[in-house]
Amino acid sequence: MTPFDYSGKQALVIGGSTGIGNAIAQMFRQCGASSHVTGTRTHASDYSPSDLSNMEGLSYSQLDLSHPDALSQWDHGFEALDALVICHALSLFNGEEFEADVFRNVVEINLNSVFDCAQRFKPMLAPTKGSIVIVSSLAAYRTIPMQPAYTASKSALLGLVRALSMAYVKEGVRVNGLAPGLVETKMGKAGHPDFSELVKKTVRRIPARRTADPSEMAGPALFLCSPLASYIIGQTLVVDGGMSLTS
Ligand SMILES: NC(=O)c1ccc[n+]([C@@H]2O[C@H](COP(=O)([O-])OP(=O)(O)OC[C@H]3O[C@@H](n4cnc5c(N)ncnc54)[C@H](OP(=O)(O)O)[C@@H]3O)[C@@H](O)[C@H]2O)c1
Repeated sequence: MTPFDYSGKQALVIGGSTGIGNAIAQMFRQCGASSHVTGTRTHASDYSPSDLSNMEGLSYSQLDLSHPDALSQWDHGFEALDALVICHALSLFNGEEFEADVFRNVVEINLNSVFDCAQRFKPMLAPTKGSIVIVSSLAAYRTIPMQPAYTASKSALLGLVRALSMAYVKEGVRVNGLAPGLVETKMGKAGHPDFSELVKKTVRRIPARRTADPSEMAGPALFLCSPLASYIIGQTLVVDGGMSLTS
């Protein structure tokens, strides 16, 4: 068995309908796992390639974590999980996150519901000695001034990863984080009418001189879940083409 052979394993990607989460779910599938994703829309067929979504071979559930009871009411049917990737997030632009209600809502989804997901699925990961990867952001290290809730919640995930990793390792569950740099997904495009201009400007500050393909987040996520990472606990891996090295 190779370390990236996930044959017979079950992976769950919360926020795996599109973008980075979808690429991670697809890589789990390519490596032999049964791969389940969630998103906010009713059916898998509601997503299209233009959303950076490929549902081929994945199973899907609707899970909108802006509804307080959504997680507890989700009848997912998993008895055991080998890998849980918590990848969903909300990101609002144009200063909207300075509204108190909006700020709280973003923190609810990007931080509190991440904790809820980890707690809900830990009992299913313990019997398999499975792994959790929590997707944070380079925003945890580099401030986005017009997005106080996104910046604060993604920063808080670094601490959540550390705390959960120490608590869960007693039951054999490893917890780590992943902090992507810039990836051109629907999250960024939805909020910026001039997203391509923003990308052009940002790329000048990325040593790799390009944005990442979502699949370039999938390799690191699978690595963190694999036996190759068996001694890595409570770390958040920055995958940013070197952007964090620049001023
Ligand atoms: N793109 C980047 O440059 C970048 C950089 C750093 C970190 N990240 C992080 O990477 C992760 C994935 O983002 P992405 O860029 O791949 O964007 P994306 O394609 O828009 O994916 C976001 C995912 O979160 C889900 N989601 C949104 N609101 C939700 C809610 N209320 N309840 C449950 N699920 C919800 C989305 O479901 P629907 O598809 O139904 O909307 C989708 O599955 C996020 O945590 C983001 O913060 C992204």
